[in-house]
Amino acid sequence: MELLYASKDSHYSIFKAARLYRMELQTINTLVNGEIDYEDLQSKLLVNKNKPAIININIGTTFKGAIDDLDFVIQTLENCGYSNDNYYIHCDAALCGLILPFIKHAKKITFKKPIGSISISGHKFLGCPMPCGIQITRKTYVSTHSKIEYINSTDATISGSRNGFTPIFLWYCLSKKGHARLQQDSITCIENARYLKDRLLEAGISVMLNEFSITVVFERPCDHKFVGRWNLCCLRGMAHVVVMPGITRETIDGFFKDLMQERKRWFQDGKTQPPCLADEFGSQNCICSHNKMHN
Ligand SMILES: Cc1ncc(COP(=O)(O)O)c(C=O)c1O
Repeated sequence: MELLYASKDSHYSIFKAARLYRMELQTINTLVNGEIDYEDLQSKLLVNKNKPAIININIGTTFKGAIDDLDFVIQTLENCGYSNDNYYIHCDAALCGLILPFIKHAKKITFKKPIGSISISGHKFLGCPMPCGIQITRKTYVSTHSKIEYINSTDATISGSRNGFTPIFLWYCLSKKGHARLQQDSITCIENARYLKDRLLEAGISVMLNEFSITVVFERPCDHKFVGRWNLCCLRGMAHVVVMPGITRETIDGFFKDLMQERKRWFQDGKTQPPCLADEFGSQNCICSHNKMHN
């Protein structure tokens, strides 16, 4: 039986799928930036060498926006002695699948490399108005044996009848924007995310932004009203902002100003301190660890 490998920062749907399919699962640790821990992956691959590997890699983890290194994962599999027909790599590129292809220095996710599939959400970066997504796979993995006579077609779905309108919408959004606009959106969002990161950093706030990512992770705000006002997602001591194409510098400045005003109030008594995020971000990205080191 195959074994599914997924880093602990993978989307919850991966773990849900593993439960539904009753698959054996190996959860892999992550590095502080949210990337899969290649050493942990290697040691678990070696221990389970007798079982074919299905590996989920993240092209943008949900919370920290970390991009796993596909080439390094392939290298790790080869180093561990897995042959091409003994592993399957799925690339979960829900958010960044429509960003990375347009970024010159980003590593390419391509079927020229030994991947099995890639999935992308249509309602995230592309902005389709209803939830939708696509999975692209190799023809050899699509069953051609399940010809259903009365629909006069093969059944390539898991759940049965599907809404055919959403792929058309996805196609429409792709063609309406076109290559140039998608590239511009990708570059602008990455620049805007860097702008937000720099503003937070200059203000002495712990913040992290992965390379080629649009997900800015920072200290969790103390007040749920602020969290609600800006519709922030929070996890443990962190919150994140995903700088999507609709987000302008003015919006970012407005958010920053509001955060700074509120922080003055939260920390005015000197008793409450911003959370230490050294474990989450690494001490180089945690302001409090920085201060401790310099004091
Ligand atoms: C890495 C990752 N995979 C999958 C999903 C789920 O995608 P969808 O909303 O298309 O179900 C998300 C959503 O946040 C995600 O971040």
